Amino acid sequence: MKTNAQTNPDAEAYISELLQKQVPYEVNILECIFKINSVNIYPPGKLSQMFAKYLIDYNLVKNTTIVDAGAGCFALGIISAKCGAKLVIGTDIAEEAVLCAHENIVNNTVEKNASILLGNGLDPLIPKYNRKIDLLLSGAPWDTLSSKEFNALSDDRKSLSRAFYDVDNKLIADVLSRGPLLLSPHGRIFITASKRTMARLKKLCDFYKVKYQIVKQEDIHQDGNIHYILEIMSK
Ligand SMILES: C[S@@+](CC[C@H](N)C(=O)[O-])C[C@H]1O[C@@H](n2cnc3c(N)ncnc32)[C@H](O)[C@@H]1O
Repeated sequence: MKTNAQTNPDAEAYISELLQKQVPYEVNILECIFKINSVNIYPPGKLSQMFAKYLIDYNLVKNTTIVDAGAGCFALGIISAKCGAKLVIGTDIAEEAVLCAHENIVNNTVEKNASILLGNGLDPLIPKYNRKIDLLLSGAPWDTLSSKEFNALSDDRKSLSRAFYDVDNKLIADVLSRGPLLLSPHGRIFITASKRTMARLKKLCDFYKVKYQIVKQEDIHQDGNIHYILEIMSK
């Protein structure tokens, strides 16, 4: 799908801020501690917490097999594993995110039911996990760049920029188009979005002929940019 992509000034400012941070540091989400061991890792925040809390409040994780696509430090997956998921598999395209996720799996003692795979979109999962996944979750990046635009970024910003820009829309396109292949008979897909990013998501849902419903919304930063959890369904 063609877009008129360009870098987003708010994302760029946050990337600059994160690249200055002293590492390692810790983030507490729902009483689970996540160690952020590199400046190139996206730290989970209020949206990750809202997402995890939604899954727990609606009793969606117990005894289920879950994929967290674009897992970052793997907060969502690790919390799900701690809250009774049978198996949680994370994927991420950034090597440093995979290393960080692995360290957090060990630190949170969920090695028996959580693992993380390196790879692009859903490539590491299809076809091995076809029809085996009860919940496909993704806190995918909110903006997009073409590969050409991404390759033009300075090298020191590339890895963290992956958390902010879904290059060529690969991750979200995979979730919307190939995600249903992974689902068990009662499987469901949930993603996050914000008021600012809804127009892009609507276009992508139309393009891939899926529909969405908002299952939760909250002005988590109290700045008018409402944050959403969306359920994705076949039309
Ligand atoms: C906004 S961060 C969210 C991290 C985590 N889900 C959370 O809520 O804290 C997006 C993550 O998706 C990963 N990512 C971006 N494009 C990807 C792709 N094509 N395939 C797999 N992972 C990708 C990034 O490296 C980053 O870790």
